[in-house]
Amino acid sequence: MTESNLGIQKKLIDGRLIASKIELSISEKIVELKNKGIVPSIAVILVGKDPASVVYVRNKERAAQRCGILSKKDVYPESLTEKELLNKIEELNNDPLIHGILVQLPLPPHINEKKIMEAISPVKDVDGFHPLNVGKIFTEDALFYPCTPYGIVKMLDYYDISVKGKSCVIIGQSNIVGKPLAIMLMNRLATVSSLNIFTKDIKSITAKADILISATGKVHLIDESYIKKGAVVIDVGISNIGGKIYGDVNFERVINKVSKITPVPGGVGPLTVAVLMENTVKSALVKSGINIKLI
Ligand code: GUN
Repeated sequence: MTESNLGIQKKLIDGRLIASKIELSISEKIVELKNKGIVPSIAVILVGKDPASVVYVRNKERAAQRCGILSKKDVYPESLTEKELLNKIEELNNDPLIHGILVQLPLPPHINEKKIMEAISPVKDVDGFHPLNVGKIFTEDALFYPCTPYGIVKMLDYYDISVKGKSCVIIGQSNIVGKPLAIMLMNRLATVSSLNIFTKDIKSITAKADILISATGKVHLIDESYIKKGAVVIDVGISNIGGKIYGDVNFERVINKVSKITPVPGGVGPLTVAVLMENTVKSALVKSGINIKLI
């Protein structure tokens, strides 16, 4: 390995490595559960054929298989009605053998996502999208935290990157990533700025960030002019263009300026999936009465 490659390597936040450690840790809990006759299981619902969703669901199934979690996938055509989906969720809510329920988003426009998220039992809501779990992010006692923001927090913890007193700038304010992450970082005493596509002069704000998190899906939005020297950069973007995956950050142009950075792929993505598995095991542990202290 050349010296410059070694330098890059040292700056990488290795999402695959952290995910594999989480998977290893939950595998031990799964053995414990199975010895008690409990098989942790997740129901995954996919409506339609959105190509990105198909890939995400496949990654989740594969991770479940690796860990020993039973995954039950239901794929429905785009024409599925809201009522039919609500009936399916009700059935899964009442199934004692199912510990986690995940409805892959986005849903077709004729289905009200809010209504669907509210229909999932909060104690099986391993995505952390039910309003009760969302609200409890504020008070830090949610049963399940949303997987991507929680994965990002775990990443920072793994590399001993404290956010306390730091300027954390988040671009993107989705319900899945930006908003919950802002609260989770505030809970850790970060100084958080939430930006969106209408924010004026984004660069002038990001250039002061100690930790920059970009979750826009805009390919290579971020170059070196957006970054403060020594910043930590977390790239949540995943865009597929002609079969190649791109992040929000132009890696080559920022690498000399950052102290740590997540690659795409191999950064945030694997953590999201590993946290989903952890949440599923947590759900099974809660129901079994086994000590739920995880990692
Ligand atoms: N679509 C994009 N990210 C997610 C996620 O974390 N969970 C679900 N259910 N859908 C998604």
